[in-house]
Amino acid sequence: MKDYFSIAIDGPSGAGKSSLARKLAEAFRFIYVDTGAIYRTLGLAAYRRGIDRKDEKAVMELLPKIKIEMGYNEDGEQRMYLDGEDVSEEIRLPEISICASDVSSHQAVRTYLLEMQRELARKNNVIMDGRDIGTVVLPDAELKIFLTASSEARAKRRMLEQKSKGIEENFEDVLREIEYRDKQDSSRAAAPLKAAEDALVVDTSDIDFEESFRRLAELVVTRLSPESEGQP
Ligand code: DC
Repeated sequence: MKDYFSIAIDGPSGAGKSSLARKLAEAFRFIYVDTGAIYRTLGLAAYRRGIDRKDEKAVMELLPKIKIEMGYNEDGEQRMYLDGEDVSEEIRLPEISICASDVSSHQAVRTYLLEMQRELARKNNVIMDGRDIGTVVLPDAELKIFLTASSEARAKRRMLEQKSKGIEENFEDVLREIEYRDKQDSSRAAAPLKAAEDALVVDTSDIDFEESFRRLAELVVTRLSPESEGQP
């Protein structure tokens, strides 16, 4: 029997994964792990050094030279460190989103970063979000959710989210970036974005945050209850 409970939340960018996962983690006292932040930190490192992110060999040569660490502050918020520097804010810049998607497309890179993600789930109850959590990182997760929404709904939300952080973006640019990343993340050979066979698909296009949270919380409660043991 496993000591800890794992919840995997996968889906395209802007479907609400991170805000919903963060709130669920708070409500159920799990640790929230944003795996995209790991790829973003590597993307930032490649960007700063002017490395060709599409070149797998170049990105792999960079990995042992840098130190990517994840930590939690006193509010339980995940922070990312690149060679000891807190880069948690910088990795959210739109140009770094593309860099993250680029570096994450390489199989060797994904394998290199896999253990860091699994280790957290071995030692904690986790809600982990990403693109391949239910399919590759935690295939034995007790609950797998695939969160999706139309690209327009996601672009609108992403714009508002960025605005709240003081980053102004134009709708068409955000939509284009989302569609570029969707295409690249879903069509890559290495761990493409797709729902695990046993994932529950939740479409949030027409429901607001509170309703999305209510639905997911219901799924968690059902799956956490002892009677559900062994249920698909
Ligand atoms: O979730 P995010 O938007 O912060 O992720 C940034 C990029 O990282 C995304 O375009 C694809 C990649 N990613 C991935 O390949 N696998 C994950 N588990 C998480 C993110």
